[in-house]
Amino acid sequence: MKKYRQVEQQPQEIRYIDVNQTIDPEKIEEITEVFKTPLVSTYNWDYSIPDSRIKRLYDLGKQLNWNVETDLDWDNGMVSKTVFPTDEKYNPYAGFKPYDDLSHEQKLEFSWHRAALSASGMLHGEQGALLVAAQLACCAPSYEAKLYAASQTFDEARHVEFFNKYIQKQIGIMYPVGAGLKSLLDKILTDERWDLKFIGMQIIVEGLALAAFNTVKIQSNVPVHKNGLHFVIRDEARHVTYGINYLEEFVKTLSKEEREERALFAFQAATGMGGSRGNQLRFYERHGWNSDEVKEHLRSGNLDRTSLEFRTQLFGRIMPNLKRVGLLTDNVKPMWEALGVLDLQDLPSDGAINWDEMAKPLVYEEIADSVVTNPA
Ligand SMILES: [Fe+2]
Ligand SMILES: [Fe+2]
Repeated sequence: MKKYRQVEQQPQEIRYIDVNQTIDPEKIEEITEVFKTPLVSTYNWDYSIPDSRIKRLYDLGKQLNWNVETDLDWDNGMVSKTVFPTDEKYNPYAGFKPYDDLSHEQKLEFSWHRAALSASGMLHGEQGALLVAAQLACCAPSYEAKLYAASQTFDEARHVEFFNKYIQKQIGIMYPVGAGLKSLLDKILTDERWDLKFIGMQIIVEGLALAAFNTVKIQSNVPVHKNGLHFVIRDEARHVTYGINYLEEFVKTLSKEEREERALFAFQAATGMGGSRGNQLRFYERHGWNSDEVKEHLRSGNLDRTSLEFRTQLFGRIMPNLKRVGLLTDNVKPMWEALGVLDLQDLPSDGAINWDEMAKPLVYEEIADSVVTNPA
């Protein structure tokens, strides 16, 4: 009989997993945290469906379904833990003396912990996306949006499965959810307004996640990780497109006051999540590093979160998307300006759909052996 343990808040400890061990069902303990939500749901009694973008995205979702177990080559796509999981040429800590002074083994261990921190954030975010998408299947106001949300729910289930399997089989280390991401998920999941869920999840969380997935995919040395991310990115691109196409019509129907409230929510969500560094700081402390010194090193190399390159990468999708749906209002523009990202609003938005690109078949890339060479 499976044991359930209810907790008041998310666990804070790092978990270590024996990657070679099969899981004994008797030993599983489900750690659950309860939340309540006043979900406002609707039935839809007219089942006619227009030939719309949402319908086409739903059809593509069905067509581009994939299977974590069989479409990814777990047998040949994992690497030995004597290989760095991320290409060292992208390591932002290289040149930082406390890092350079580590032995080769310590650098390897550090690198696997960084990989665990990154993959764990993605795993927890995907669980949040799964729960939100399931809520949207109840509370999105139109029939076609409900169908799409249901298809997205299944996509998110696969994403949770993928990141979890990657952590359980390859990394063996799981970090707890960061405070910034957790409080944003709490807010999105417990707000009763469906459009705030849409804005928070489809525009902000997915927009930030897409930026992170693309970077991590380029930098990863683990073929199964690269390929899994490739498949996940395909799905997420549809999710963001769905959010924009659905919201841009809806936002036009709001009063000025309602629109300002949503615009402020989007700003707070993006900066709360994008600026959350609790886990990162704990990560530095764990290695005995002075976080001010690390920040100074990153800043001098233009690698910290305040650098233009980093901000462009992080907010480059969100800004044009917010502009397109009408949530860059006069009240919030100065706030975005102060962050130095307002100019990014004129980049191309995800609302303009390249259907050919989106409908391309999924291909498992064979990654050359040279990618996984050990840099030491
Ligand atoms: Fe996802
Ligand atoms: Fe998604």
